Amino acid sequence: MPDKDNQNPSDEAQFTPEMNPPDRDIPAPEGEVVARKGLLRRFLDAPADNTVKTVVVALGLCLVASMVVSSAAVSLRPLQERNAALDKQVNILQVAGVYEDGIDVAEAFDAFEPHVLELASGEFTDQFEADSFDDRAAADDLTLSAPLEDDPASIGRQANYVTVYLLRNEDGTLDKVILPVYGYGLWSTLYGFMAIEEDGNTIYGLQFYEHAETPGLGAEVDNPRWKALWRDKKLRTDDGEGELAITVAKTPPAAGRDYYVDALSGATLTSRGVDNLVRFWMSERGFEPFLERVRAGEI
Ligand SMILES: Cc1cc2nc3c(=O)[nH]c(=O)nc-3n(C[C@H](O)[C@H](O)[C@H](O)COP(=O)(O)O)c2cc1C
Repeated sequence: MPDKDNQNPSDEAQFTPEMNPPDRDIPAPEGEVVARKGLLRRFLDAPADNTVKTVVVALGLCLVASMVVSSAAVSLRPLQERNAALDKQVNILQVAGVYEDGIDVAEAFDAFEPHVLELASGEFTDQFEADSFDDRAAADDLTLSAPLEDDPASIGRQANYVTVYLLRNEDGTLDKVILPVYGYGLWSTLYGFMAIEEDGNTIYGLQFYEHAETPGLGAEVDNPRWKALWRDKKLRTDDGEGELAITVAKTPPAAGRDYYVDALSGATLTSRGVDNLVRFWMSERGFEPFLERVRAGEI
C-alpha cells in the first residue's frame, strides 16, 4: 500500500472509486492545471492585449449592438409608418390651406375624400380601397404601371392609378382637388401635392413633403415665399381649354405671367426638375383627363 502523503500525482490514474481519492492539496504539474481550467476561465484570465480575446470581445460587441439596432428598427417601424402617414396628411392640409397650428390632424383630414383615379380615363375606380392604396407600390408594380419612354419627370415607370383627394364646400360643391406629383430634381425625387381650384385650372398651391435637395439651394422649394408664387397661377390658357402653359423658368413664357413661377436662384437644376414634373403630371399623360372632368363640373 503506498504512503498517502508521499503519493505522486502521476499515480492518480491507479485509484479506483473504492479507494480514497488522491490528495488535492498536492500541486499538479503546470500543464495539467491549465488543461483542467474551463474555456471561459482561460479566456477571462488571458491578458487584455491578447489578440484572440480582443477579436472575440469586438465581435461580441458588434453582435449585441446589431441586435439592439435591428430590434429597435423592427419595433419602431409601425410608429415610423404612422408618423409618415400623419406627415402626408399634414402636407395635404397645408397645400389645401386648411392647416393651423394645434389642429387635430386626423379630424381635419376627415374632410378630404380620397379616391383612386385611373389616370388614362380620368375616372375614379372602386377596384382598390382608397384609404389604403399605396401609390408608390403601384408605380413599382409591373401589373399596375407602365414604363415611360419619354420621361421628362425621370420617374422610370408611371402607375396607371393614383390617389387624389377632394375637398368640398359645406353645400357639397367642389372646393379643391389635391393631386400627387413627383419627379427628379438634382439629387433626389421630389414628392408632393398640387392643389387645384374647382375650376380645374387655377393653382392653389404646390408643396413637397419629401426630397433630398441641398438646403439653401434646391431645398428652397420649401421656402414659403417661393411656394406663395404658385398661388393663382393658371395651368392652361383659355380657361383651361388651351395649351399647357405653366412653367418654372428664369423668364416669363409667351403666354404671360399668369403661367410663370420664377426659378430658384442658384438652383436652376432643381427648378428645371420641378418644371418638368409639374408639366408632366398636368399633361394628357397625367391629370388632364381628370381636370377636364373637373372643368366640366362632373366631380
Ligand atoms: C454642394 C452643391 C450642392 C448643390 N445643390 C444644388 C441643388 O440642390 N439644386 C440645384 O439646382 N443646384 C444645386 N447646386 C448648384 C448646381 O450645381 C448648379 O450650379 C446650379 O443649379 C446652377 O444654378 P444657377 O444657374 O441658378 O446658378 C449645388 C452645387 C453644389 C456645389
